[in-house]
Amino acid sequence: MEITNVSEYEAIAKQKLPKMVYDYYASGAEDQWTLKENQHAFSRILFRPRILIDVSKIDLRTTVLGFNISMPIMIAPTAMQKMAHPEGEYATARAAAAADTIMTLSSWATSSVEEVASTGPGIRFFQLYVYKDRSVVTQLVRRAERAGFKAIVLTVDTPRLGRREADIKNRFVLPPHLTLKNFEDLDLGKMDKTNDSGLASYVAGQTDQSLSWKDVKWLQTITKLPILVKGVITGEDAQLAVQYGAAGIIVSNHGARQLDYVPATIMALEEVVKAAQGRIPVFLDGGVRRGTDVFKALALGASGVFIGRPVVFSLAADGEAGVRKVLQMLHDEFELTMALSGCRSLKEITRDHIVTEWDRPRIAPRL
Ligand code: FNR
Ligand code: LAC
Repeated sequence: MEITNVSEYEAIAKQKLPKMVYDYYASGAEDQWTLKENQHAFSRILFRPRILIDVSKIDLRTTVLGFNISMPIMIAPTAMQKMAHPEGEYATARAAAAADTIMTLSSWATSSVEEVASTGPGIRFFQLYVYKDRSVVTQLVRRAERAGFKAIVLTVDTPRLGRREADIKNRFVLPPHLTLKNFEDLDLGKMDKTNDSGLASYVAGQTDQSLSWKDVKWLQTITKLPILVKGVITGEDAQLAVQYGAAGIIVSNHGARQLDYVPATIMALEEVVKAAQGRIPVFLDGGVRRGTDVFKALALGASGVFIGRPVVFSLAADGEAGVRKVLQMLHDEFELTMALSGCRSLKEITRDHIVTEWDRPRIAPRL
């Protein structure tokens, strides 16, 4: 079957993958309200396109933390990609480099920072989970620096793992032929099978629930790399992120896998953008599946977006070629959206190019 949009990869992944793996990738927390909402909320934003503007040339390029990339669409960290495809993070890294965009590698990747670096040039960020044993963190950050990673993405919404019921039922665990490669030499690369989600037990055992803003400062003492704080949903926390020296904010609810009934990220975005007052860039992830979604996020003040599940599903369906195709489809759809809205460059995308349901209740056509 010919794939014509990003969402179509999910059904193929579901067919191909063992149930335990598909469920882990697809799940949200508890009632999965936020999971549906992340995508659905984009449909509460409509366009106010401008016409008769010369759109014969469109420029999608942008700069993220000083790095020039082909489009404001980047790859979010998703753990354990070798469960999707034997090439796992290698394939994702190559696809991101080919698309000239940024890949974020998860702490809990099934390929190490050194292995991913060995795939060749590319701009890469490293997502950090903070272990109780801080020497583990220090070593890992050093390794990421040496391997040429350009920023630390500090995930701040996971003091404990959210309750994903399918993972509990499936007794989710990392398959025995794989390891959390970054932690192999520290003897922390395996997950025990428990009466729960094996990942939830691992998180409870290893990661530091006491993590707080002072640790953002601590991190700045162990690395010169810029720090993006991932998991901000409120204006209050956006202000604190600025105050504590973050280089940027990622508005994220962890793909709806942590606290259920938080708003869709696209609905939280504007509050965060206002609070950041242009001092640091604000990015968004969660539910981005269309070029129109990317445009809406930029119109609400995001400097760029990240995608999570589309990467693991396309990787499962078709390896590196799948991830390349996802990035290409989003690129082309976003370019088309710009053309049809009368925007030739990212800076021409404004708040006036959209109207949201919360600007004007019930803008949706009534039947
Ligand atoms: C994630 N996410 C995530 N985030 C993180 O900081 N570290 C991680 O290791 C992971 N792992 C992970 C695995 C899987 C299977 C998913 C689906 C998500 C969250 C991820 O970075 C991002 O916030 C969301 O995936 C964005 O939402 P969408 O694009 O999946 O809707
Ligand atoms: C997850 C963790 C690994 O969402 O971030 O599964």
